[in-house]
Amino acid sequence: MSLIEIKKLNKTYESGEECVRALVEIDLTIEKGEFISIMGPSGSGKSTLLTILGGLNHPTRGDVVVDEIPIYKLPLERLADFRREYLGFIFQSFQLIPYLTVIENVMLPLSITERSSWEQVKMADAILDRIGLKGKERRLPDQLSGGEQERVAIARALVNSPPILLADEPTGNLDSKTGKEIMELFKSLNEEGQTIVMVTHNPENTSFSTRTVSLKDGRVDNHGRKIR
Ligand SMILES: Nc1ncnc2c1ncn2[C@@H]1O[C@H](COP(=O)(O)OP(=O)(O)O)[C@@H](O)[C@H]1O
Ligand SMILES: [Mg+2]
Repeated sequence: MSLIEIKKLNKTYESGEECVRALVEIDLTIEKGEFISIMGPSGSGKSTLLTILGGLNHPTRGDVVVDEIPIYKLPLERLADFRREYLGFIFQSFQLIPYLTVIENVMLPLSITERSSWEQVKMADAILDRIGLKGKERRLPDQLSGGEQERVAIARALVNSPPILLADEPTGNLDSKTGKEIMELFKSLNEEGQTIVMVTHNPENTSFSTRTVSLKDGRVDNHGRKIR
């Protein structure tokens, strides 16, 4: 059994008269330890696929099976538990809370757990250290560079040690040098066993991942190469 399995997944957005087929009959299997790049032009369905993988966007047809759990068959509160246990999500716009310090932002996913605040601080400290933000724990997000803010978003996504890390264009707002540093970080996390699914429009980023999945008009388009 693979870590993530998607079969014949479809997503259609309906708004008024308009109907957009964002994903059409997507088949995709992801193994534990893979680092997947999802590529494709703007509007090809990349973010839709990622949010569906993240339990944040109900498919119109089909399901996502993670660790043998068909996640969209779960009752809503179980789906929320599933997300907390299995997923770290890095959004395109970081979505840091501007009035919380770095360490408080990183501790957010822990605040609903039963852990003591001492333990929460220890876990947040450990991941901030790992990710190169030691000494900046008490700053506010706007006192950091773009690359550092991205690292805070990564630390927050990883503080729970989730089996799967999802990232939507994690280097989209960064200069190329900082973007490369973030990709090196993803690569070393992956080499330590972290499964990663990343949306990117930058072909250079795909050299850091273990496999690339291309989307075009909501369909997987790997130029005849076999899709697992
Ligand atoms: N909430 C929504 N309502 C209606 N249409 C949407 C919504 N989100 C995305 N779409 C449409 O679905 C298609 C795929 O969008 P998206 O997944 O954001 O693509 P990408 O991330 O590759 O740019 C686009 O045509 C987009 O306009
Ligand atoms: Mg997108």
